[in-house]
Amino acid sequence: MKSLVIVGASALGREYFSYVCDACPSMKVKGFLDSRPDVLDRFAGYPPVLGPAEGYRPQDDDVFLVAVGDSAARRAYAERIAAVGGKFHTLVHPTAVVGRNVQIGEGSVVRPMAVIGSDATVGRHVIVGTQSLVAHDCVMDDFTTISPGCHVAGRCHFHEGTFMGIHGGAVPDVELGGEGAVFVAAGAVVTRSFASGRLRGVPARQIGK
Ligand SMILES: CC(C)(COP(=O)(O)OP(=O)(O)OC[C@H]1O[C@@H](n2cnc3c(N)ncnc32)[C@H](O)[C@@H]1OP(=O)(O)O)[C@@H](O)C(=O)NCCC(=O)NCCS
Repeated sequence: MKSLVIVGASALGREYFSYVCDACPSMKVKGFLDSRPDVLDRFAGYPPVLGPAEGYRPQDDDVFLVAVGDSAARRAYAERIAAVGGKFHTLVHPTAVVGRNVQIGEGSVVRPMAVIGSDATVGRHVIVGTQSLVAHDCVMDDFTTISPGCHVAGRCHFHEGTFMGIHGGAVPDVELGGEGAVFVAAGAVVTRSFASGRLRGVPARQIGK
């Protein structure tokens, strides 16, 4: 029997714990890796903080989820865990709808009421936000973050590390990234492709670095 270790005990980590209870109630959750021993003190009903991620040695039955919203920080933690032999869980909330032929990589989390359209590809350590749509034939590369309430239309390709803020959107066939990580501000609607940069507004325009 695998036991889950959640990296990060902030809000996202606490949410992941709740999703695991919904998705696989029989799964053992060993605890959280977090450098703040008291981070859960004012919250009831969570498994313990095991200590910082730095220096944690995976046990044979451990599987990990990195509950860090920032794409670059999530990548750093995932690489650290992988470097010491850690394996990753993939979590799809039971209220999510996942279409035919969808591939979802290890470490990724599809949050409640998200919809992933048919033939989409979701890489490793991707977050598909609560009530978000990643439509048919999209490709979300590793460490992409789709915040809650986003709508990404069909055939979009978000390169590694793309972050879309809450209630963002993209029209069909948009490509983001490739030259550098793209940050899409909350509420922006992306109507053409951008190779890098910070985007804001409707239609989304590039803003300062
Ligand atoms: C864009 C963002 C990073 C803020 O950038 P910032 O440069 O620090 O912006 P500030 O907060 O200093 O605000 C500067 C101006 O931009 C405006 N602004 C801020 N966010 C904006 C957004 N998403 N779209 C349009 N305008 C925005 C502010 O209202 C302010 O306008 P004003 O100068 O007329 O008062 C932030 O608002 C955002 O969108 N973050 C995404 C967070 C998110 O969705 N996280 C996921 C949670 S699950």
